[in-house]
Formats: sequence, C-alpha cells, structure tokens
Amino acid sequence: MNNFNYRNPTRILFGKGQIAAINEHIPTTANVLILYGGHSAEKNGTIDEVKQALGDRNIETFSGIEANPSYSTLMKAVTKIREHKLDYLIAVGGGSVIDGTKFVAAAVNCSGDPWQEILVNHAKDIDHALPFSAVLTLPATGSEMNANSVITRYETNEKLAFSTPHVYPQFSVLDPTKAYTLPEKQLANGVVDAFTHVMEQYLTYPSNAMVQDRFAEGLLQTLIEIGPELIKNPQDYDLQSNFMWTATLALNGLIGAGVPQDWATHMIGHEITALHGLDHAQTLAILLPSVLVEQRDKKHDKLLQYAERVWQLTEDTEETRINLAITKTRDFFEQMGIKTHLSDYDITEQDIGIMVKQLNEHGLTQLGEHNDITLDKSQKILQASL
Ligand code: NZQ
Ligand code: ZN
Repeated sequence: MNNFNYRNPTRILFGKGQIAAINEHIPTTANVLILYGGHSAEKNGTIDEVKQALGDRNIETFSGIEANPSYSTLMKAVTKIREHKLDYLIAVGGGSVIDGTKFVAAAVNCSGDPWQEILVNHAKDIDHALPFSAVLTLPATGSEMNANSVITRYETNEKLAFSTPHVYPQFSVLDPTKAYTLPEKQLANGVVDAFTHVMEQYLTYPSNAMVQDRFAEGLLQTLIEIGPELIKNPQDYDLQSNFMWTATLALNGLIGAGVPQDWATHMIGHEITALHGLDHAQTLAILLPSVLVEQRDKKHDKLLQYAERVWQLTEDTEETRINLAITKTRDFFEQMGIKTHLSDYDITEQDIGIMVKQLNEHGLTQLGEHNDITLDKSQKILQASL
C-alpha cells in the first residue's frame, strides 16, 4: 500500500427528512445564496423545503446552472454574490450544480482571471473559498463529498477540472427521496458514472491494498445488483438509499487512498463532452471498455481479480476470463440503456483528430496509472471505440 494523507471534512446528513436539519449546521446570521439548475428542484418541492429549513435567514436564489456547468453562467452567480454581499452557498442538485457552486465559492475571492487561476492553473494559488453545503438530488459524481469540480467553457469547447481542499462541502444532505423524480436516463448515467469512478481507482495494478480492493469490489457488485432494479423502481427507498450512498463512497477518497489511480477514461471523456455535448456517463460507457482492452497487459492481474471477484469468472484460461469480464462490463452499461460506441452518437473517424489535438492542448499526454497513455494510445482508444 502506498503512503497517504486522507482527511474528508464533509458531514453527511443521510435519510428521509434530513433537509430540516440544515438549520442546525448553518450560522443563523448567514446571508445565503441557494444555487440550482433547471426546474427539477423547484418542481419536486426541494427548493421550498430548503427555504423553509433556513427560516428567517437572508436568502437569495440563483437558477439556471446547466448540465456540464457553464463558466459564463457561473460568473453571473459570482456577480450576484458580490452585489448582495452573500456569504454562504447552498447547492441543490446533481454534480453540475455542486461542481458549479464549488467554482463560484472559489471565484468570488479570486483577484485575477478565475478561468486562468482556477481551471488552467488547477487552483494552485487558491487559499480560501466561501463556505458551502449541498443538497443532493442525483447520485452519480460523488461531488457532494469530494473536493473536485469540472467546468465547461462553451465559447472555446473546453471542459477542465480542478481540485482544492477549500471546496469540500461543509455538509451534504443525502435524502434518497429527492432522487425519486429522476428520469431513467439520469439514473442510468449515475450508475455508470459511479461504476467508472470505482474502476478508475481499482482496476490498475495490485498494491496490496486489501481493504480498498474489497471495498471497491463491494461497491461494483452493489451497482450491478441494484442498477437494473432502480430503473424499474425509482421510488423504492431501499434501492435509492443504497444507490445514493454507493455513489458517494465511490468518489469520496476512501477507496482511492494508498492505491494507484487511472482516470484516463475520464480525461478523454471530457474532450468528447466538450466537443460533442455527450452526457458525462455516455463518454465513460464508450471509453472504459476500450481503455481496458488497450491496457490489458499492464492491467492483467487486476483484470483477473475483477473477473473472479466481481463477475465470478473462475473457469477457462486467463485470457478468456479477462475477455469475458470486459464484455460483461460493456453489456452492463448497455443493459442500463447507455450505448457504448462513438458511432451510436454519430461521432466518426474524422472527429477523432480534433479530440486528440485538444488532449494535447490541455497537457493530457501521459494518462493512466503508468503515465503511458500517450496521444498515440488515446487515439487508438478512440478508434477502438468507434
Ligand atoms: O437542471 P435540472 O432541471 O435540475 O435537471 C437536472 C439535469 O438536467 C436533472 N436532475 C437532477 N436531479 C434531478 C433531476 N431531474 C429530475 N429529478 C431530480 N431529482 O439531471 C440532469 C443532469 O444533472 P447533472 O448535475 O448534470 O448530472 P450529474 O450529477 O451526472 O453531473 C454531471 C457533471 O458532474 C461532473 C461531470 O463532468 C458533469 O459536468 N463530474 C464531477 C465529478 C466530481 N465533482 O467529482 C466527477 C465526475 O467524474 C464528473 O466528471
Ligand atoms: Zn465521472
């Protein structure tokens, strides 16, 4: 196991009715901005519930944060915060709203150009951010309990990530009933995103991290077990609560502590979204099987372990077991209703060059747990994904 330094300061308020508990965890003098997306959180009553929980505090709202949150929209929130002298943010939504709020929290006090300082320079010089919390409505990204954020600049077709400990949510409310209104597609996206987060931290090479491995395998097996059921029964409390906690644990740093990590699937996927507007999870469902095939020699031992422990494949030759495990991974994504080839989304061979060019421009030229996924390999992975 590698050395690690792990601290996760986010408090989790889990379960039905927990929005009311917000009141105990925010200063009574706070001037609050509630940030949310389109209309889902208004329609299902979540925004009203949050306002009620905040009681007499001074409250402003900011709506319209898009899926794959846009830099220019978020800068409008920054202006509003400065104008109204607000000092506490609450994100109500999925990964996009929570990521967007993290950016806003860091950008408010940024003296230079926020895009440059936070996204291009990876928040290296950011030393504080506004305090914020989240009310999760879409289990998927783990943003509710991590310090990561991904922002899109539509004007330049760029989607970049940053991470800084200053943007951990102070607390997150995980009320599984708030996910009851999710459409089938977003549920499927959430399952595939959480699954891939586990794989990025698990499917590398053995590092004798026994409990991280078994924890990761438990999360994968849970997603395989409940994913198809959730689509049929989105209002089943037990299924939604298991899904919500699994998605949070998939990317709150716990299973990634002390182990090598990959993240090539995510990094290449961001370029597909930036250029073609695919949902984040669609890009992962397309790329993960191809990354596993391309890196199968380097990942051989872990692929065998994955085949045996997650898919119970113990017969046949090693190579056959690995092939089957990769096929089962792709089949699982398809079973969830997410197509796994670029051609399913009208992306062709001609589009690959520009994606590779963008990877180069963003310095993403040595990806994966061995830093050996060069531009040539990324190109091969994209071609194999057609
Ligand atoms: O805008 P509204 O009307 O709220 O609709 C949203 C949105 O259109 C809808 N939705 C959310 N909760 C709902 C609901 N609809 C009905 N009922 C509810 N309860 O779902 C749509 C998608 O929401 P979004 O927040 O975009 O989805 P997700 O949570 O999958 O977030 C994706 C974003 O997170 C980033 C992705 O790149 C992408 O930008 N990621 C963030 C990560 C992190 N912070 O650690 C890691 C991930 O790998 C990922 O990159
Ligand atoms: Zn993801």
